[in-house]
Amino acid sequence: MINLSHISKSFGDTEVINDISFRVQAGERISLLGPGGCGKSTLLKLVLGLEEVDEGTIELFETEMTSANVKTRQDVLRRVGVAFQQGGLFDFMTVDENIRFAMDNMTEMSQAEMDEKIIYLLTKVKLPKTRTMFPYELSGGMKRRIGIARALATDPDVAIFDEPTSGLDPVTSTIILNMIGDMGDEKPNSSLIVSTSSVEVAIRFSSRVVLMREGKVTADDDWRKLIVEGDEWVRNFLGTRLIGIDINYAKELGLPKAFIDQHWS
Ligand SMILES: Nc1ncnc2c1ncn2[C@@H]1O[C@H](COP(=O)(O)OP(=O)(O)OP(=O)(O)O)[C@@H](O)[C@H]1O
Ligand SMILES: [Mg+2]
Repeated sequence: MINLSHISKSFGDTEVINDISFRVQAGERISLLGPGGCGKSTLLKLVLGLEEVDEGTIELFETEMTSANVKTRQDVLRRVGVAFQQGGLFDFMTVDENIRFAMDNMTEMSQAEMDEKIIYLLTKVKLPKTRTMFPYELSGGMKRRIGIARALATDPDVAIFDEPTSGLDPVTSTIILNMIGDMGDEKPNSSLIVSTSSVEVAIRFSSRVVLMREGKVTADDDWRKLIVEGDEWVRNFLGTRLIGIDINYAKELGLPKAFIDQHWS
């Protein structure tokens, strides 16, 4: 579905993305994890063609995007749904209009089909009464949920969520993560990418974690393996945020026995 090969990107003298390669298969879920400022959002913008790579290639559904013409790129990107870090809703449009706008531009759905889908999605994100509301009438968490509904409105083959839960309380975060997971379950062949700086969010979302550090991928594997066998930086990054959590919660998260034995004695 996605094949990134040796991509790099600088802004001025600063190299923000430094030789990144990885693939995401159909139906796969990955967490793109890394500290603030490591380049996650930039990487996603490159994948979406919102920034141009300096070097490397990006294949989406077997189309090489960096050399493709505008029409081809647009056609390919119709199959990708995205919820931006900042919500990215149009302030001058209602919730309904925001979601409809995406479907209008990216699908061939009729207005009746769109109506049905909007009602379905708003129910799914537990905000059925917001249809005629404007973004300024919604809380941060509600806007984030509408952003997710919009990302999924076009039935994308790849859905990208940039920091879907940052700044939200734990309960809302859990609702959002479950919602993304549920929607993935409904379309098992779609690939889902969640970008986050939270270890907890990453390991709750997927087994595979692509861990970024200063513009590079420093590890890419099942987090249960990385937390025990990764290099020191990787073990620290993953581990220090989890040591000290409630033992029952640690078990619920599926932390490996070796890690639990070491830190909860
Ligand atoms: N358009 C731009 N021009 C100049 N520098 C940029 C631009 N976009 C991003 N950067 C820089 O690239 C670096 C990576 O930013 P990016 O937003 O990709 O990080 P991030 O991992 O998404 O961080 P966060 O977890 O805070 O969202 C930062 O140092 C940022 O200042
Ligand atoms: Mg970011």
